[in-house]
Amino acid sequence: MLMAELSEQIRAPKGLSGVSVTETKIAKSEVDGSLIYRGYTIEDLAENASFEETAYLVLYGELPNRTQLTRFNSELRSRMKVDSSVYEIIRDLPKDAHPIDVLRTAASSLGSTDVKRAPHEQELSVAAKMATLVANSYRIETGKNLIEPDSRLTFAENLLYMISGKKPEESDAWTFERELIFYMEHDLNASSFTVRVVASTLADIYSAVTAGLAALKGPLHGGANEGAMQMLLEVKNPDAAAGYVADALAGGKKIVGFGHRIYKQFDPRARLSKQYLKQLLAEKKMDDRLFRLCDALEREMWERKKIPANLDFYAAPVFFTLEIPIPLYTPIFAASRVFGWIAHYNEQVLDNKLIRPEATYVGPKDLKYRPVAER
Ligand SMILES: CC(C)(COP(=O)(O)OP(=O)(O)OC[C@H]1O[C@@H](n2cnc3c(N)ncnc32)[C@H](O)[C@@H]1OP(=O)(O)O)[C@@H](O)C(=O)NCCC(=O)NCCS
Repeated sequence: MLMAELSEQIRAPKGLSGVSVTETKIAKSEVDGSLIYRGYTIEDLAENASFEETAYLVLYGELPNRTQLTRFNSELRSRMKVDSSVYEIIRDLPKDAHPIDVLRTAASSLGSTDVKRAPHEQELSVAAKMATLVANSYRIETGKNLIEPDSRLTFAENLLYMISGKKPEESDAWTFERELIFYMEHDLNASSFTVRVVASTLADIYSAVTAGLAALKGPLHGGANEGAMQMLLEVKNPDAAAGYVADALAGGKKIVGFGHRIYKQFDPRARLSKQYLKQLLAEKKMDDRLFRLCDALEREMWERKKIPANLDFYAAPVFFTLEIPIPLYTPIFAASRVFGWIAHYNEQVLDNKLIRPEATYVGPKDLKYRPVAER
């Protein structure tokens, strides 16, 4: 190959927008508002599947039969307990640390306690323990007692139970479980891509999950559900929605919970979550002001900018109605997305090539070093 050919670079667009960088069999989101996990539509899974069945599907490529599901449930449930040494590390962190920072540290420290396990064991262990860590690290920070997972409860019920200390109502757990299913996987989102980059160096799953958590934290990604709820609390009144959107757009601000790299018409998960929010408020005989506020903001954004609401915009008020503390919204996202991360980790490792792109250098050249005294 000639030198000229060697140095030729393919220039990718900013943010790798519209570029396919790998093949995947895990999931696909499309511009028209469709989303599939391993071939099944998100609507089908939301209506019919449990969190555990969906996790099995995402991890292993097909829906489990009864024996496989029973085994998977017990494999997960038996691994949810977290070693006291990890809690000790959490106790040493500042009490005002954000729960997502605490979770990132905790996930990383799991890597040093679990290091001798086989890779399959490590995966199940980190996935199962994440939910326990989400709840109990917050309980430590807020001065509450630790709650051990209850092996009779489902994944969704257990997470709600460990957060609140109360066994959840069946309908609350059902709605929460739908949101967890929505958060589980989303093809090459920023955190899953991060996980694949780490996997491509052949680092362990704990390192990859810790990196995934770091990417998830940002307000353009997983941090948006917390930001959306804060905005909803600030706007408060449906009548104030139009003015809020006008002012924010005039000030060049982005409105949290709107917009998506892939979905330009609607986010199918947001559409379903909007229905669930309405149902939940009705079941609880609560005032529907929160629903009307969301609807007003959504309409205003669509009329003015043709920008649709995303999952975070509607998952946030669902979590709020379920009385989940706001700082836990992004950690909860992580407790579910970890299953998607593991699927991406394995897919990457199975057909690996180090992910190492290039950058086009646009800085100065031919500079000469001068000693510090001369600068
Ligand atoms: C998700 C997000 C990062 C996608 O970004 P992207 O694909 O890079 O798209 P861009 O940020 O380039 O947006 C395209 C245009 O829509 C506008 N836009 C996108 N999201 C917007 C929002 N939430 N509020 C106001 N304007 C928005 C951008 O300002 C841009 O306008 P321009 O072309 O006039 O500059 C972006 O929509 C965003 O920041 N949303 C808010 C955060 C959020 O909810 N994140 C969760 C995502 S699931």
